[in-house]
Amino acid sequence: MKFVVALALSGAILAVAACGGAEEPGVTADAVPDAVETDVAETEPVVLANGMTVAETISTRQENLKGMGGALKTVSDNVRSGSPDMAAIQAAAVTLKGHSENIGTWFPEGTGPESGLETDALPAIWEQPDEFAAAVERFQVAALALSTAAESGDAAAVGAAFRPTGGSCGGCHDSFRADDD
Ligand code: HEC
Repeated sequence: MKFVVALALSGAILAVAACGGAEEPGVTADAVPDAVETDVAETEPVVLANGMTVAETISTRQENLKGMGGALKTVSDNVRSGSPDMAAIQAAAVTLKGHSENIGTWFPEGTGPESGLETDALPAIWEQPDEFAAAVERFQVAALALSTAAESGDAAAVGAAFRPTGGSCGGCHDSFRADDD
């Protein structure tokens, strides 16, 4: 595709040259196709190793994070209610545990604010990878304990496991998410 465009342009330049119109300094057959290749590359979205574009990666992770927000609220609401819905808690705990196992892959290089897209992911994620990995691990440990407690059906155990889970969300947001509200 690029090659065809470049060839077509070279042809146009040759045609102009044949008419004696390519005398302007600085305009060479080499320079023009290069410029065209750059334009073509910019219109083709980059596909990351995860098979998604940068925009898709950001919107997918934000959807997943919203789902985590909903799941945590379900646990929180039920823990506080006098008659917790254990099935709802269990489903929410499964969601949180599943996402905790994958969240470490949701932030490939190039999906931060430098992408120019709307994201609250801070550059610190890529600047302090060890700290970010530690925040991921803290969430994984907490979400696993919450899901174990939920499976046991013991409301008191769920209540005890809820606090560290919420703390692991906030712990990561404090360092790695902008506009935490
Ligand atoms: C390892 C770090 C990390 C952990 C753990 C984490 N988050 Fe986040 N969260 C982020 C980052 C970074 C963003 C901003 C993502 C973006 O905008 O691209 C975010 C954004 C969000 C959002 C906003 C999503 C949107 O765009 O609408 C919600 C809601 C959220 N997180 C909930 C949670 C909950 C609930 C937990 C714990 C159960 C949690 N997060 C755990 C890093 C984390």
